[in-house]
Amino acid sequence: MPFITFIQPDGTEQVVDADSGASLMAYATRDGVPGIEAECGGAMSCATCHVHVLPEWQAIVGPASDQEQGMLDWRDEFDPAASRLSCQIILTDDMDGMRVAVPQI
Ligand code: FES
Repeated sequence: MPFITFIQPDGTEQVVDADSGASLMAYATRDGVPGIEAECGGAMSCATCHVHVLPEWQAIVGPASDQEQGMLDWRDEFDPAASRLSCQIILTDDMDGMRVAVPQI
């Protein structure tokens, strides 16, 4: 059961307890993490579930697919190394303790 910390632009932190096998977005919306709107419900067509994966977790999470990258690279807060759509991050046990930042909108 991974525990994931969301960090808001003001530094506020919220820990979400999740299960492996589901998307990070699913648990962010379940627990009402501010800034994760997920308007398309995970269809990869809104980019309102954008997060920045902190550097120490990027190798475990992996890079965005080309399609995901296309949804992200027009956003002002896009960071090529850190940006991911949380609906495309499928949680695994080795993500326990992961920290992600919610970009300033
Ligand atoms: Fe819409 Fe992730 S929920 S792109």
